[in-house]
Amino acid sequence: MSQWQRSKELYELAQETLAGGVSSNVRLLGKPHPLFFERAEGAMLYDVDGNGYIDYVLSQGPMILGHSHPAVLDAVNSAMRKGQLYAGQHELEITVAQKMVEIVPSAELCRFGLSGSEMVQAAMRLARAATGRNLILRFEGHYHGWFDNVLISVAPPLDKAGPREHPNVLPGTVGQTLSSLEDFVVLPFNDLALVEDLFARQGESIACIMLEPMMCNTGAIPPEPGFLQGLRRLCDQYGTILFFDETITGFRLSLAGAQGYFGVTPDLSSFAKAMAGGFANAALVGKRELMIRFAQDVNHSGTFNSNVISMAASAAAIAELERDNGAVYRHINKLGTQLMTGLADLGRRLQIPLHVQGLPCSFHVSFTEEPPLRDYRDWATKADKARYNDFSTAMLENGVRLIGRGIWYVSAAHTEAQIAQTLEAAEKSLAKVYA
Ligand SMILES: Cc1ncc(COP(=O)(O)O)c(C=O)c1O
Repeated sequence: MSQWQRSKELYELAQETLAGGVSSNVRLLGKPHPLFFERAEGAMLYDVDGNGYIDYVLSQGPMILGHSHPAVLDAVNSAMRKGQLYAGQHELEITVAQKMVEIVPSAELCRFGLSGSEMVQAAMRLARAATGRNLILRFEGHYHGWFDNVLISVAPPLDKAGPREHPNVLPGTVGQTLSSLEDFVVLPFNDLALVEDLFARQGESIACIMLEPMMCNTGAIPPEPGFLQGLRRLCDQYGTILFFDETITGFRLSLAGAQGYFGVTPDLSSFAKAMAGGFANAALVGKRELMIRFAQDVNHSGTFNSNVISMAASAAAIAELERDNGAVYRHINKLGTQLMTGLADLGRRLQIPLHVQGLPCSFHVSFTEEPPLRDYRDWATKADKARYNDFSTAMLENGVRLIGRGIWYVSAAHTEAQIAQTLEAAEKSLAKVYA
């Protein structure tokens, strides 16, 4: 009998009433089929068959403190008993906004929402309003949510993607309004010369450069030295808005996000996943002169924005992330480094082309003969995806849960013993995959 028998039965039952048995398409990718979980604590997840997993998915990023963090749960519990949603203001909003302004370099004013996707929409609207321009530059392989006007050239098939220097602007799903594709220019990540060339021709009509400051949705590819600085310089020169989508990198690369880590301050930035200890919360922050437009002529709304649970969760989560002058980040750095080094050593010892790149808090593992991976096309052409797929399934059998596209997230709750256990599981899994 399969070790996931109960999950399999529930998945079959789910398909009778849930489209595809899931509520987010990303979960369709679960191997051997989407699993059902019943409990999570610290760095561990437990499924309905009684299997425990050391978790490096961390809910696709949010659980930076680990699952079921007591301080976050207590804060939510006590705050929500007094009220949940007022269609009006409450003080915790100010508490979290003050904190963001204090710690995030680009934050002079904030607005809250519930998801990364929404905040990206708000950022694009604001950038267009502020510049009176329409065109947005984005980068191949970067993900900015599932909405029509951003699900563009995220994982384009190479036979349709066009030349690397001038990629085609491609939709990500059927049913998308194709007219919004005209509002975008797509370039490869990490190639400043191509951006400079574009700006020399069209800079005056570009409203915004939008990017993941470290590309985490394809590989875990940090910006090359000078790349973010170059974008900043071009934006200043041409009056274009620089928007960092820090949905993943916010509160993960550092308390001050990727902008703090790499030392480049955008005009606008969005935060979501790691800002609320596993509860739904998101923020758009930025320069006062831009953000104030939300109080003047640019609409941003939402029934559930800044609800009590989200705000209480964020206030508590950020307090934990700040504790002891960044103890969480030191821990994640140390354990993430052990894991990266351990995996790379395994690859060398077993003579397997296992490549590890990125940062200790979010790194990428691939099987490739041609490291490093620098942009989407490198990942698409050089990394052996089928092999990684088999590896992540073998890891699951051995009690470790990984994201199928190769990124690993480390949390404050992981322990050295779990890192050692993970490396043992990796050795077994590699032996199976390369048998
Ligand atoms: C960089 C980035 N932007 C936007 C989003 C969309 O966020 P959400 O899933 O909260 O709508 C994601 C989600 O993974 C993301 O990684």
